[in-house]
Amino acid sequence: MKLLLPFLMLLSTFDIYVHSVQTTRQEDINPYPDKPRLSFRTDGTFKITVFSDQHFGENPWDSWGPEHDAASVNLMKTVLADEKPDYVVLNGDLITGENTFKENATTIIDQIVAPLNDLKIPFSTTQGNHDNQNNITHLDEIKREQSVAPLSYTRTAPPGIGGDDQHGPGTYWVPVYPTQDAQTPCLILWFFDSRGGFANTSEPNPSNPQGVDDWVHESVAGWIEDEVSKMDAAWGSGEESRAALAFVHIPPHFVQELQANLDSSKEPGLNADQLGEGSSQAANPSTLGNDGPFWNALTDKVKNLKALISGHDHGNEWCAREPTKGVIFCFDKHGGYGGYTQDGWGYGVRNLVFKSTKPDTTVDTWIRLEGGEEKARVVLGPDYDN
Ligand SMILES: *[C@@H]1O[C@H](CO)[C@@H](O)[C@H](O)[C@H]1NC(C)=O
Ligand SMILES: *[C@@H]1O[C@H](CO)[C@@H](O)[C@H](O)[C@H]1NC(C)=O
Ligand SMILES: *[C@@H]1O[C@H](CO)[C@@H](O)[C@H](O)[C@H]1NC(C)=O
Repeated sequence: MKLLLPFLMLLSTFDIYVHSVQTTRQEDINPYPDKPRLSFRTDGTFKITVFSDQHFGENPWDSWGPEHDAASVNLMKTVLADEKPDYVVLNGDLITGENTFKENATTIIDQIVAPLNDLKIPFSTTQGNHDNQNNITHLDEIKREQSVAPLSYTRTAPPGIGGDDQHGPGTYWVPVYPTQDAQTPCLILWFFDSRGGFANTSEPNPSNPQGVDDWVHESVAGWIEDEVSKMDAAWGSGEESRAALAFVHIPPHFVQELQANLDSSKEPGLNADQLGEGSSQAANPSTLGNDGPFWNALTDKVKNLKALISGHDHGNEWCAREPTKGVIFCFDKHGGYGGYTQDGWGYGVRNLVFKSTKPDTTVDTWIRLEGGEEKARVVLGPDYDN
């Protein structure tokens, strides 16, 4: 007995050790140990609703700005009640930052997330060029969102990834599991910060702020590769076990040339915004191609990527396949009463429904206008635009 006891103790310590290694091997890369696990419905589907370019907070000194904001909140309430999504994405330009006052810039976030908080819908955000302005930054908005929205899954990139931590931190991924009990996710949602807007770096001359680069910072390319390696090690090959979907506010400039060959019978949806300088990442002659490291890493390393989805250009709704990478790109739908618009464009959302938990699942997607009209319905899969 005297001899056996230490041996038994050793055994049980070893047992605990092995057990914890096994469980942490599965668990430790889930970035949300303290949040509800996102999972597909019992019928094997998963529905995402995307609001984009809401541009809250315009002209707070006039009556029309606050009226627009109230209308945008109503739009959210109407759409969320009808669509009942499993997840919501707010894809950038949440606030028209050039209009916000320093003392209450971030409290606008409270208004935007209230409908999601009320209905307890999990969500996350990207930030856009209008979210970096003199009195607000991407980081200010993210911190406020994290503090007032319990079901926000928005995170910030590790220090040094994405450019400076004030204006480009919103790069992260979110795992979605096939069931509540599953140990490995079947879908990864990727979110990237395309920066842009202005920084208040010219302190002596605040009326002349400096422009922030308007592309996903090149450091994100290596980060994508590292994260994919970690996922493969923990969860098995992404090619065989996971689907993916990606969001970034400003479209990569590589999709700009798709517009010339659009066929509205095959690639339906509003196509009213002519893409040019400023309408895609790094699209000015002096910066052209600077979004290449991000674009190449995303399209080469992330397997089963169903689409990359952007806002920024309020008059476009189409989805088209970029032929050199074979990846589908889709525009959002202008989802709030702020920001530029034209007669007939309307306001609404893009819906996406994953049809199964398999990595080769197709995804149904369409535009839903505020009043309920549905348009531009397509199936994202190997047959689309191929
Ligand atoms: C920033 O906020 C201050 C204080 O509220 C305000 O006076 C100023 O006009 C704002 N600046 C901009 C560019 O909105
Ligand atoms: C923000 O502050 C400005 C200036 O103090 C004020 O005019 C405006 O109504 C405030 N907006 C909100 C939403 O509180
Ligand atoms: C921007 O700079 C001005 C001038 O120094 C300062 O008053 C203001 O608080 C700054 N804004 C932010 C958001 O830091």
